[in-house]
Amino acid sequence: MQTLTPQRCELEPIEIAPRAVIEEIQLHRLKWSLRHAYENVAHYRQAFDAKGVRPDDLHTLADLAKFPFSTKQDLRANYPFGMFAVPQNQIARIHASSGTTGKPTVVGYTKRDLETWGQVVGRCIRASGGRPGMKLHNAYGYGLFTGGLGFHSGAEQFGLAVIPVSGGMTERQVQLIRDFEPDIITVTPSYMLAILDEFRRQGVDPRKTSLKVGIFGAEPWTNAMRAEIEGAFDMHAVDTYGLSEVIGPGVANECVETKDGLHIWEDHFLPEVINPVTGEVVPDGEPGELVFTSLTKEAMPVIRYRTRDLTRLLAGTARSMRRMQRVTGRSDDMMIIRGVNVFPTQIEEQILKVKALAPHYQIHLTREGRMDEMEILVEAQPAVVASDARGTAAAELLHLVKSLIGVTAKVTVTDPEGVERSQGKARRVVDKRGKD
Ligand code: DLL
Repeated sequence: MQTLTPQRCELEPIEIAPRAVIEEIQLHRLKWSLRHAYENVAHYRQAFDAKGVRPDDLHTLADLAKFPFSTKQDLRANYPFGMFAVPQNQIARIHASSGTTGKPTVVGYTKRDLETWGQVVGRCIRASGGRPGMKLHNAYGYGLFTGGLGFHSGAEQFGLAVIPVSGGMTERQVQLIRDFEPDIITVTPSYMLAILDEFRRQGVDPRKTSLKVGIFGAEPWTNAMRAEIEGAFDMHAVDTYGLSEVIGPGVANECVETKDGLHIWEDHFLPEVINPVTGEVVPDGEPGELVFTSLTKEAMPVIRYRTRDLTRLLAGTARSMRRMQRVTGRSDDMMIIRGVNVFPTQIEEQILKVKALAPHYQIHLTREGRMDEMEILVEAQPAVVASDARGTAAAELLHLVKSLIGVTAKVTVTDPEGVERSQGKARRVVDKRGKD
């Protein structure tokens, strides 16, 4: 593997500034962000008032703990544009991610937000070993999902040539990697494994590609998978983290020289880790739920946004900004199938549209070869006994799940009482994928 460590002079000075400088900038920006949210977003005004806090009550960074949290629920309740803090004519881009209620979570950007986004994604690419002049094969999905366009703009802004492939058509991914000779690939780790399988199917040696580094995120993955990918492709594999509500990709990234967790771009996104049950802030180093406050976002500031992602904050190493440990899981029950976020209730919604099906269901997650597979076990209505009627119902559900949620599932329609029943909370997800 090639050494790709950036020189210190290539970094933005803030990335390696003393902590005191970073914290001074954070405090200054935090005061602005709280005021901006309070003055321009009815939700924050009401939430601050209800807690009896005003933006002026913040004197130190620790004072942020006095302010109320925000959640995905708040975004949904204000669907589509109620969380925006600027007039509609200043919105330059809108993205969205799928949600439980059929309503997606909507996020907006001003022109300046798009520049900030490009800048932080550029930092991620540089931290990963990328440099202006390189070629980047972008296989994150384009569209409402922030992955594709987020990496696209960031790479362009940083001076790379982008190959906007998007996800899917695996044979073509392999052909383009061979013919266009990119230096970098950006893609979900699970899809990278599918691309690897395709290399092998075609009898092409993946170690012979031009790829020097892969920037993998949007779903949890492990160091074992890193070793697998690095070995198979003879390239670096680094972790990249972000979420739509906070900006999209570009929130945190590993440094290629250390690969020891993800440096958070703390001058734009202030992290806290809380106890998910009590809401108390836990000290750095302790595990808990990651919470973010945006410091510079104009169109849609987020104040103490609960990500549901579980991690811990660690001191900086290759940069002075703090790191977050690789996200291993979530505090709620969201499933991520091939990079698409899926909630059990989304499946339930679709099941309820199919008359021949009863609302008793369970989702089984397995790993077939390299890809995550989802099997939906669902009961037929007692009157529906003919096997072809059940087959039709299964096909109908499969189609709904594919077209509305965007994942391909296996559907098994069982006899009535065929699905595990519970005494209290239903066990909706049975994860049989094992942990590596
Ligand atoms: O997944 C943004 C993104 C795109 C990040 C491309 C990285 C690369 P959402 O669709 O809003 O945004 O999903 C955000 O995905 O709260 C995590 O649960 C999960 N996630 C994102 N990155 C990682 C990661 C994009 N590196 C949700 N490890 C987050 C584990 C991740 N989980």
